[in-house]
Amino acid sequence: MYTPASDRYEKMKYLRCGKSGILLPRISLGLWHNFGSVDRFENMVEMVHTAFDAGITHFDLANNYGPVYGSAEENFGRILERDMRPFRDEMIISTKAGYDMWPGPYGDHGSRKYLIASLDQSLKRMGLDYVDIFYHHRPDPETPLEETMEALSDIVRSGKALYAGISNYNSEDTRKAADILRANHTPLLLNQVNYNMLDRWTEEDGLQDTCEEVGAGMICFSPLAQGVLTDRYLKGIPEDSRAKRNFFLHESSLTPELLDKVSRLNDIAAGRGQTLAEMSLAWILRRDRVTSVLIGASRPEQILTNVKFLSNLEFTDDELAEIDSILA
Ligand SMILES: NC(=O)c1ccc[n+]([C@@H]2O[C@H](COP(=O)([O-])OP(=O)(O)OC[C@H]3O[C@@H](n4cnc5c(N)ncnc54)[C@H](OP(=O)(O)O)[C@@H]3O)[C@@H](O)[C@H]2O)c1
Repeated sequence: MYTPASDRYEKMKYLRCGKSGILLPRISLGLWHNFGSVDRFENMVEMVHTAFDAGITHFDLANNYGPVYGSAEENFGRILERDMRPFRDEMIISTKAGYDMWPGPYGDHGSRKYLIASLDQSLKRMGLDYVDIFYHHRPDPETPLEETMEALSDIVRSGKALYAGISNYNSEDTRKAADILRANHTPLLLNQVNYNMLDRWTEEDGLQDTCEEVGAGMICFSPLAQGVLTDRYLKGIPEDSRAKRNFFLHESSLTPELLDKVSRLNDIAAGRGQTLAEMSLAWILRRDRVTSVLIGASRPEQILTNVKFLSNLEFTDDELAEIDSILA
């Protein structure tokens, strides 16, 4: 029988998501990796409990998280059934559709047909009546944006999702999507995008300003660059790491130049009394422009280490300049 930590809400900080009524934890947990049918169920249970005990209320999924596709949602459904169901109303559960999911022309991209069918499948796998956020996972230039956004609005109106989100949309497409959703009286809750010290496209694109202007939040995925922005790879490539186990992070991308930068960032973090993982998360949230960082983890201890960053989000001008010069 699981009893959550009674002080969980004192440990976490929450920030309003755009102009909505939703407060998101500054750190959220994603189930892209380590929750598939190939992974150990007890470890998943422990990670979800550890996160919830730390005040992490937001759990992020997608139809195709696994492997195999759909298995992360199935496993999350098993965890809910096992002992998390009593806390359903304390959680923000999200899922998405937009990438390859099932064979044929209707299991990918951005059609109304795909989105509505996919969410029905996701709800069955998780054993839920509704998700809190349903996202279109990536822009689809071949489907009219009106069709995709109307599908999101209709899903919200049907009660199968409470809020609409978009993911991987740039500034221009975010503005268009937000306009259509607003006209449909189902405002855009947030955009989920890649942002970390090594990948700063959202700054050049002006996405942070756009999200603020349209009243949406921004949640950043892969804030640790899949583990690169931690001390994970500073002494070689561990056998149990993502770079060894998974094709989403290639060993070949861990070049000596990159690892030299990471090592110098690690020195700055040590000077701040933080791990590099903590500093990488703090750097993203140092201004309140990003609502939440969406981390992944392969073990509960990583979650416990990572939440510590919340106690030091301040950077001196010298630290920021030094970080920029390393990354330049
Ligand atoms: N919308 C999209 O298109 C999209 C795309 C990607 C991700 N996402 C979402 O974002 C979530 C997070 O993505 P991500 O997993 O790439 O995030 P991440 O936080 O950048 O990377 C997580 C990985 O970093 C390593 N790690 C974490 N904490 C560590 C620590 N303290 N010390 C050392 N290593 C540590 C672990 O790898 P090891 O396995 O090596 O231990 C962990 O699995 C996903 O689960 C998903 O929900 C969305």
